[in-house]
Amino acid sequence: MIHIAIDGPAGSGKSTIAKKVAEKFNINYLDSGALYRIIGYYIFNENINLEDANGIVNSLGDIDIILSEGKYRLNGKLIDDQIRTYNSGKLASRVAKIPEVRKKVNYILKSISSKESTVIDGRDIGTVVLPKAEVKIYLTASAKERANRRYKELIEKGEKVNFEDVYTEIKKRDEADTNRTIAPLKPAEDAKIIDTTGKKIEEVLSEIYTIVESELKNGNKNS
Ligand code: CDP
Ligand code: CDP
Repeated sequence: MIHIAIDGPAGSGKSTIAKKVAEKFNINYLDSGALYRIIGYYIFNENINLEDANGIVNSLGDIDIILSEGKYRLNGKLIDDQIRTYNSGKLASRVAKIPEVRKKVNYILKSISSKESTVIDGRDIGTVVLPKAEVKIYLTASAKERANRRYKELIEKGEKVNFEDVYTEIKKRDEADTNRTIAPLKPAEDAKIIDTTGKKIEEVLSEIYTIVESELKNGNKNS
C-alpha cells in the first residue's frame, strides 16, 4: 500500500494534481476539503447558526457521509456540484475551525484510507491525518496566481464574481487556515515543497510522478 498526502493553500492545484496522481497509479482519491464543504453546506441549509459551535457539534450525529463509486453521498443523496460554489468554500473554512468537526472528517478519511492505497488532498493530511504517509507533497503558489486561477474557474462556471473579491477571499482564507490553533495549514517537516507559481500542471505532475515512482521502487525493494 502507498499513501500520498497533498497539502497546500486554496488554488495551489491540490485537487487537480491529486486526481491525476490517483489515475496514473490507479489508486483511490479522497478530497478532504469536500468533507468540510459538505458539513458547511448541511449546517447552512438546516439554518443552524454558524456562530453556534454547540449547535453545530450537536447536529454532527445527523450527518452521514459515505463514499460510493468515487463520489460522496450526504444522508444517501449524491453531493458534488452543490458544494463547489464560492460560498461553500467560505462555509467550509468556518466549520473547519471546530475540533469535533475535524474529528469527524478525520475519522471518515482514516477509515476509508486504511483499507487501500490512497491519495488525499487538504491542509493537514501530511501533518495530522496521515503522518506516516510514504509521500508528502506541499503545493503552493503566490496568492495572486492562485486568485487568478480560482477567478477563471468561477467565471467559466458562470458565477458573478470580480477578481478583487476573489483575491481578498484567498488572502483571508490563507490567514484563517494558517493561524487557526487546531491543525493549521503548514508543510509537514518531511514534505516536498513545490512552488507552482508560473508552472504548468504537467510540469508539477512530472515532478510528483518521479517522487512516487521512486517510493514505489524503494518500497518494493524493502518488502
Ligand atoms: O484544490 P486547489 O484549490 O488547491 O486547486 P485546484 O482546484 O486543483 O486548482 C485551481 C485551478 O488552477 C484549476 O482550474 C487548475 O486547472 C488550475 N491550475 C493551474 O492553472 N496551474 C497549476 N499548476 C495548478 C492548477
Ligand atoms: O481548494 P479550496 O481551499 O478552495 O477548498 P477546499 O480544499 O475544498 O477546502 C475548503 C476549506 O476547508 C479550506 O479553506 C479549509 O478551511 C478547510 N479544510 C481544512 O481545514 N482541512 C482540510 N484538510 C481540507 C480543507
